[in-house]
Amino acid sequence: VDTFTNEFRKGYTTVNGFSMPVGYRDFAETIENFEVKDDDIWVCSFPKTGTTWTQEMIWNIANNLNFEEARVPLSERFPFLEFTALFDYSSLKAAHPEKEFSQSVVNSVGFVKDKPSPRFIKCHLPFCLLPRQIRTGERKPKIIYVARNPKDTCISYYHHCQLLEGYRGNFDDFCRLFLGNKLNYTPYWDHILDFWKQKAHLNLLFLKYEYMKADLPAVIKKSAAFLDKTLSEDQVKTLAEHLNFANMKVNPAVNYEQAIIRSKKSFSIEGSFIRSGQIGQWKERMSDSMIQEFNRLMEEKFSDYDLIF
Ligand code: A3P
Repeated sequence: VDTFTNEFRKGYTTVNGFSMPVGYRDFAETIENFEVKDDDIWVCSFPKTGTTWTQEMIWNIANNLNFEEARVPLSERFPFLEFTALFDYSSLKAAHPEKEFSQSVVNSVGFVKDKPSPRFIKCHLPFCLLPRQIRTGERKPKIIYVARNPKDTCISYYHHCQLLEGYRGNFDDFCRLFLGNKLNYTPYWDHILDFWKQKAHLNLLFLKYEYMKADLPAVIKKSAAFLDKTLSEDQVKTLAEHLNFANMKVNPAVNYEQAIIRSKKSFSIEGSFIRSGQIGQWKERMSDSMIQEFNRLMEEKFSDYDLIF
């Protein structure tokens, strides 16, 4: 384990080659020994790849489009396993003494553990840091992994870090942090590949953000089949409508508006979590040399596998 710093967050730790927040160490053992249940439903991803979109889709399919219940914040319905490891809770509490934080923030692993079954679990952990019972195949929960074009993911991560983590550097420098594996959960290539290689051994559905953009109804049907659910054409249409960008952007159960309000106060910056939802923004945003560097790494990492972005 070693630590390093970058401009906007201090104290990362490298675990099995992945950059993790230092707070992860406090949870590493509990997560390793986490008791997984076969009827758990996990959404695993690298940050900014469409996790929230996928979670809302999966939760609604599994809960028979219960839009009434879906008004409960996603972070409570579909909690983020290692969330508490990502920040310093005592500083957060000190900055917002008036706020009562949910257990999903105060002790996210404990919160997930105690949820009634079937539990819905989000995590950004790389495959090698998932609970042992999943890695060894002792438990076979349903896992949905979502991946996204690395260049678009990097742009989205840049905006996320500006908005929620106080990043103040420029975009080029951020790309260097991404390529240099100095951001939480990097290297992204290995994050994707490790899940991709496990496809045959896990109960895994591999999705891509780009498929969801191209044909959401088809992805809804595929996901429903994976969850052993049957949806009528009307239900598919209704769910696709619920999940469209404009609706998600204004849906307070999924748009993290409370966190954004707190962030705006801390970092004096405007923005929204559900930001622009586009494919190919890298064409306008990235310099030619940065595009070449991304392409080189994608070629090097993905060319032996059937992985195209
Ligand atoms: P952008 O920043 O490119 O807009 P995550 O949930 O993994 O953090 O991913 C966030 C990204 O998914 C953001 O990308 C966000 O806008 C996008 N997203 C969220 N809901 C979406 C939807 N309904 N349609 C398209 N993109 C969506």
